[in-house]
Amino acid sequence: MRNINFLNIKNKHIKVIKVAISQLKKITDPEHCYGHTLDVLDFAQKIIDKNNYGADLDCLVISIFWHDVGRLHQDKGHELLSSQLLEKVLKEEKYDKNFVKKCNNAIRFHKWNMKPKSIEGKILKDADKLAFLGINRWKNCLKNDYKLNEIMKLLPNLKNKILCLNESKELYDEAMIDLIKFLYNYVTK
Ligand SMILES: [Fe+2]
Ligand SMILES: [Fe+2]
Repeated sequence: MRNINFLNIKNKHIKVIKVAISQLKKITDPEHCYGHTLDVLDFAQKIIDKNNYGADLDCLVISIFWHDVGRLHQDKGHELLSSQLLEKVLKEEKYDKNFVKKCNNAIRFHKWNMKPKSIEGKILKDADKLAFLGINRWKNCLKNDYKLNEIMKLLPNLKNKILCLNESKELYDEAMIDLIKFLYNYVTK
């Protein structure tokens, strides 16, 4: 039973989140289109359900929606750009300065080889990397005959070298079983 529902948090911040969604829907790369953000939200919810670490969930949900918005403009360095784009919107909406800083921190270090500086950053990064196993992503990529080269390269190190939190490592095992089931059905249909 989920004790904290991300949907309520999304509704609370719908104005800034809507801006992110409209941008994400313009991303055509099947690996990072809107479905990927939904996978990340889903994995983050699963981590929180195991252990919420006292994280600021308002910050976490907003940051997840915004973490890849910068990809619309650039791949390399999109982590920093996404955090800057969100900062601008939050400031326009008069969010508290410390909250803006916290969101900035949560987004900036989500690349696989970066070390997040906050708990919100660790949950976001882990959920983003668990989304390597996200069914939405695999479905989209297979449908578009898109090679998952980058993911295939990182997958062997995902559990032991890339994920930060123990709860994420447990979720890796569960997600891997779901992915194998999905792929089995895909090749045998
Ligand atoms: Fe990203
Ligand atoms: Fe991402």
